[in-house]
Amino acid sequence: MAITLVIVLLVIGSLLLHYFSVWWFTPLASNWASIDFTVDITVWITGVVFVLVNLFLAYAVFRFRSRPGHKAHYEPENKKLEGWLVALTSVGIAAMLAPGLYVWAQFVQPPENAIEVEAFGQQWHWRFRLPGADGQLGKVDTALISEQNPLGIVESDPAGADDIVILSNELVLPLDQPAKILLRSADVLHNFTVPQFRVKMDLVPGMVSTLWFTPTQAGQFDVLCEELCGTGHFAMRGKVSVKPAEQYQQWLAQQQTFAQSQSVPQADITQGQAHYQLCAACHGDSAEGNKQLNAPALAGQSGWYLRRQLHHYQQGIRGTAEGDLYGAQMAAMANTVADPATLEHLLAYIASLPPVQASVAQGNAERGQRLYRSCAACHGAEAKGNYALNAPRLAGLDGWYLERQLNYFKQQIRGSHPQDFYGAQMSLVAQSLQTERDVADVVAYINSLQP
Ligand code: CUA
Repeated sequence: MAITLVIVLLVIGSLLLHYFSVWWFTPLASNWASIDFTVDITVWITGVVFVLVNLFLAYAVFRFRSRPGHKAHYEPENKKLEGWLVALTSVGIAAMLAPGLYVWAQFVQPPENAIEVEAFGQQWHWRFRLPGADGQLGKVDTALISEQNPLGIVESDPAGADDIVILSNELVLPLDQPAKILLRSADVLHNFTVPQFRVKMDLVPGMVSTLWFTPTQAGQFDVLCEELCGTGHFAMRGKVSVKPAEQYQQWLAQQQTFAQSQSVPQADITQGQAHYQLCAACHGDSAEGNKQLNAPALAGQSGWYLRRQLHHYQQGIRGTAEGDLYGAQMAAMANTVADPATLEHLLAYIASLPPVQASVAQGNAERGQRLYRSCAACHGAEAKGNYALNAPRLAGLDGWYLERQLNYFKQQIRGSHPQDFYGAQMSLVAQSLQTERDVADVVAYINSLQP
């Protein structure tokens, strides 16, 4: 009796859970309504069968329960009933599979007018490439990947020169225009998923996999990596912004081609030194940093990181958040190197300065070493930084500065700007340092790694 009741309650509970569940599709933003439809068919068929089978089970348990003077009738073979069951099951399975095959046939056939976009995944971020005026993507070779050529484009291939290189985590696509995404990985298996588009596909090192969709809603969506790809997997997020054709063209016109990205102004250290006098007022004559003026050490820091931070200050991505007083000061100064050539001169001069000893923060370095393990995945075991992972050098930075930045990341004073993708990643990771003591200890450990 009790079992009957439990089975019936389980059926009712399951139906209620499904009916009131919040775990359902995000609103659809692409052409793939047919994928939702196939899932709906599966849910209906399995749902109806689940209810019928379980209610029958409850009925059988109740009807044929053990009673005094009553003996159950045993009937192991029933050809007619088995015939019906096989036939009905076959129809049910065919009804679930056939629509899927039909949709899959469309999924592997991108329309002729689809634009091609390459999504390039690596531990743990996204980059993108669009064909230039010639409509063709140039050849690539993973062995060529470097700081200067992050996508490994083959320079000798003329088709690659006008390729549009997008070195941020954000892809922009035109509304209502089919897009075929070519997926390429630099290192391990990743996965490209945009839940609102209902598409997902693995990135496999050594080959190019594809998927296609037509965005039907303007807006910004998350690109998720849904393949466990290492310690930073959870933070491997990108964005795709869908814009009306006109806004898309405006965005496209502002992007740089591969050829443009290769022509960096010749840097002149003497000119850089002259410009540095302005920075020296806060950062010190040898770029050693100054705690009283809240200026971090710059000597020893990687040029690519300083360049990106200066760009972020110039573009209002850094130094505009509420509570970031010192960032706001720096933002004003960053505009004095708005000219790309001046910026390169300055960076060349800073690169010529020897690294400095950092001032050491109070904390338990031994305990910090354990906490540092998750930082080491990107910043390196010796905190030297890693260009490929967008992780700056930490060794040689003063304890007070590291502490402040970690707290800023935790409080989202830093890393909250929608364009600051790597900052947002760092902000996620900084949350794992739960207490003030955690922050102090990890900083103490980093301080023990002097350059
Ligand atoms: Cu890339 Cu998970």
